[in-house]
Amino acid sequence: MHLPVMRDEVIEALDVRERGVYVDGTLGGGRHAEAILRRIGPDGLLVGIDLDNEALERAARHLEEWKDQCLLIHGDFADMRRHVREYGLDLVDGVFLDLGMSSDQVDAPERGFSFMREGPLDMRMDRSQSTTAATLVRNLDESELAGLLRDLGEERSARRIAHRIVEERAKSPVDTTSRLAEIVEKAVGGHRGRTHPATRTFMALRICVNREYERIERGMEEAVHLIKPGGRLAVLTYHSLEDRRVKRILSRHVGSWESLQEGGSKWKGEDPPVRWVRRKPMVPAKSEIADNPRARSAKLRAVVRLGPEVDERMRS
Ligand SMILES: C[S@@+](CC[C@H](N)C(=O)[O-])C[C@H]1O[C@@H](n2cnc3c(N)ncnc32)[C@H](O)[C@@H]1O
Repeated sequence: MHLPVMRDEVIEALDVRERGVYVDGTLGGGRHAEAILRRIGPDGLLVGIDLDNEALERAARHLEEWKDQCLLIHGDFADMRRHVREYGLDLVDGVFLDLGMSSDQVDAPERGFSFMREGPLDMRMDRSQSTTAATLVRNLDESELAGLLRDLGEERSARRIAHRIVEERAKSPVDTTSRLAEIVEKAVGGHRGRTHPATRTFMALRICVNREYERIERGMEEAVHLIKPGGRLAVLTYHSLEDRRVKRILSRHVGSWESLQEGGSKWKGEDPPVRWVRRKPMVPAKSEIADNPRARSAKLRAVVRLGPEVDERMRS
């Protein structure tokens, strides 16, 4: 079992403090949460949210030792302020988001996330929702499918793949991972390079099934307004499209300076709510990548909330 991706860097980026209240919006197996709990000590509180009930059950077992300091919630991080307020909390010291799917989800054939494992074409993080990847593959028309693969997966052969899916589904349902992987492989004419030809198709479907980009947008907006002055938001991403999106959303909140004619400078427009902890994202150490290939493309971005108490110190 690997350590959670960039564990120490996450704790540093969040500047986790003793007795703090932290939200882990993507609890998963609870391994980053464990690292947070170890830091906040017996008087701190961790709010863990996940769309996936199985992840919550696993995390509850993993975090048994800290059960009195954990609130585990089945829900969407896009609704984190509502979830937190339902427990009478107002502002928190930090929010962490570890985006995408977990290795537990990928490794479970019945969840249908991986083209490497034979299973139903499902891909729902929240199994109480009705739309699965098979629903999309069955119901979207050819141009909608092509658009989805192009926009969410940056798939260069989107039109060819969409065309082939539509041809094949007329013969028999495309409702398993292996059948879809095979169709994509045939559409693009076999393997190119080291990555499997179905990688981007699977990624695009997963993003669409779980409305990932819409939720990231809303969740980060919520997080920026949920952290107290001096509190931090840290976000881990695993592919460039996701990272670009996170960077763009955070940049909107960070704002920029403009120089004044009379000397000095002031914020352009309204005072921004946050500033970067570091302008450049943090990336894993080479040794971590060697040990855990999943960490290979990880990027960690973090912002700190500004406010009356921290303005001067943070802006310098
Ligand atoms: C990369 S894993 C997190 C792993 C976790 N940090 C750990 O230490 O085990 C991402 C988790 O976030 C969950 N997730 C993804 N989008 C979500 C959302 N909008 N709201 C709540 N949970 C979400 C997934 O179900 C998955 O369990």
